Amino acid sequence: MSLELFQLTNKVAIVTGAGKGIGSAIALGFAEAGADVVVAARTQADIDLVASQVRARGRKSLAVATDVRDKAAVDNLVSKTLQEFGRIDILINNAGTYIYQPVVQMSTEEWDSMFDANMRSVFFCCQAAARVMIGQKSGVMVNVSSMAGVVPDPGRSAYSASKAAVNNFTRNLSLELAPYNIRVNAIAPGLFITPGIAREVKQTRQRVPNFRTSVVDRVPLKRVGKPQELVGAAIFLASDASSYITGITLEVCGGLLALMD
Ligand SMILES: NC(=O)c1ccc[n+]([C@@H]2O[C@H](COP(=O)([O-])OP(=O)(O)OC[C@H]3O[C@@H](n4cnc5c(N)ncnc54)[C@H](OP(=O)(O)O)[C@@H]3O)[C@@H](O)[C@H]2O)c1
Repeated sequence: MSLELFQLTNKVAIVTGAGKGIGSAIALGFAEAGADVVVAARTQADIDLVASQVRARGRKSLAVATDVRDKAAVDNLVSKTLQEFGRIDILINNAGTYIYQPVVQMSTEEWDSMFDANMRSVFFCCQAAARVMIGQKSGVMVNVSSMAGVVPDPGRSAYSASKAAVNNFTRNLSLELAPYNIRVNAIAPGLFITPGIAREVKQTRQRVPNFRTSVVDRVPLKRVGKPQELVGAAIFLASDASSYITGITLEVCGGLLALMD
């Protein structure tokens, strides 16, 4: 009985940024927990591959090429999901991107690019899904923010501010949607090895030579995370196991939070 709470059997989930990294791990984990998964990102070949891996796990899948910065593309994602499955039970807002750029050198375009990719996109997706979920009188949203939105991260002010905005937006939206039986939570990952973070670390290393000491050694568990280690948190927040939880940010960070006051 208690393990059934974690099942996502026959739920319909949209996962953005599901072509690789954390998003693909969540999409495949959800399929294993019983969900049908709509896989969204910009690169068609990536989402086709993940969709085929979902199907190989015995669930239905749809790959919808989507740039989440584009409201029309997000509306298309939602309408394709409804055409295929007729409902949206779970929305995982995972798509996002990084930048290392100290404030003094940052261009306005770089600043805006962080908020477009990491925050405005979440607004578009939550708004479009909420309009469907309100009609259903049920639904769950999980926004993937970052520990950088909780703990200061010098050199990544724009990224950190965009993710802090996601955490704050999550709390506000949870209050707006609670009357409709819709839960909204966030997951704040620490450092996880993904294609995106590998690229970011490579670029940052040129400017932060002591990367290992300044980042990895700060983690109490003394290692980075694997994307699969976020799947349990995502299933928990998306399933009935967390039916009385809304408006929180769940930090999955190898203990970084314990260092804070
Ligand atoms: N890895 C970490 O250590 C870490 C830590 C904290 C927070 N996070 C957050 O976790 C999320 C996933 O990170 P990751 O490391 O797995 O990234 P990743 O390896 O770069 O993968 C990102 C995925 O998102 C997609 N994506 C990027 N921009 C998009 C857009 N505008 N529209 C639609 N899809 C888009 C990418 O595909 P396309 O390029 O094909 O669109 C890709 O499938 C991000 O929000 C990130 O900020 C990650």
